[in-house]
Amino acid sequence: MANASEQQTNILVAYYSTYGHTFQMAESVVEGARSIPGTEVRLRRIPELEEARKALSKQDAYVKAQERQAEIPEVTHDDLRWAHGILWGTPTRYGNMTAQMKQFIDTTGALWMAGDLEDKVTGVFTSTATIHGGQESTVLTSLVPLLHLGMIFIGTPYGQNPQILVTDGIGGSPYGPGTLAGPDGSRQPVESELQTARNLGSRAARVAQRTKILRQTEEHGKQSS
Ligand SMILES: Cc1cc2nc3c(=O)[nH]c(=O)nc-3n(C[C@H](O)[C@H](O)[C@H](O)COP(=O)(O)O)c2cc1C
Repeated sequence: MANASEQQTNILVAYYSTYGHTFQMAESVVEGARSIPGTEVRLRRIPELEEARKALSKQDAYVKAQERQAEIPEVTHDDLRWAHGILWGTPTRYGNMTAQMKQFIDTTGALWMAGDLEDKVTGVFTSTATIHGGQESTVLTSLVPLLHLGMIFIGTPYGQNPQILVTDGIGGSPYGPGTLAGPDGSRQPVESELQTARNLGSRAARVAQRTKILRQTEEHGKQSS
């Protein structure tokens, strides 16, 4: 008989957000993951880089967005180990993840060596200024290190996300949820974008429940042989 912590599925939502759009998406990802019974969710902030803090602190929009996130704990390696599924949020930087997220991923060498993140479920959500600014490329390019770490990628397929099967200017793709901040950052996430974010969270929780059981079964098999 499995004990309570063996039955629980752990989902980590680790994100970075300069102006708060990715943060709002992260909150919806959390909501979706929490909607699956037996799921424990941690929302964690990827640490700011000192250079960026210095450069951006003169901007009111940055300061206010950081104040709104002040209560969110910073992500640690223990959070990564704890999780059965890890969902990453990053605004685009020229079609790639932010330096903040890359810097954090670049601290995971010991976890890579130990295979600690192998077979964990993963997904990526983003925010871009414009519709062609990196909605798809940011998710796809973020995958490269996640695949090195051995994670199992899930996206947000059309079948479960009819709201992205449109020609309107909304964020999101089969690769993952996205929102559009607008060229001046004034646009806020709309309901269909938040729905795709919730769906990534719930899908990750559902898939991680299964992959966790697979890992547990393999571990028990190794121990008893
Ligand atoms: C250095 C830099 C590069 C950026 N590159 C792009 C880009 O290539 N395409 C785009 O649409 N937006 C680009 N942006 C805008 C950000 O994506 C936008 O500020 C972000 O989506 C807002 O998300 P946040 O509120 O979570 O920080 C860039 C912003 C910065 C600071």
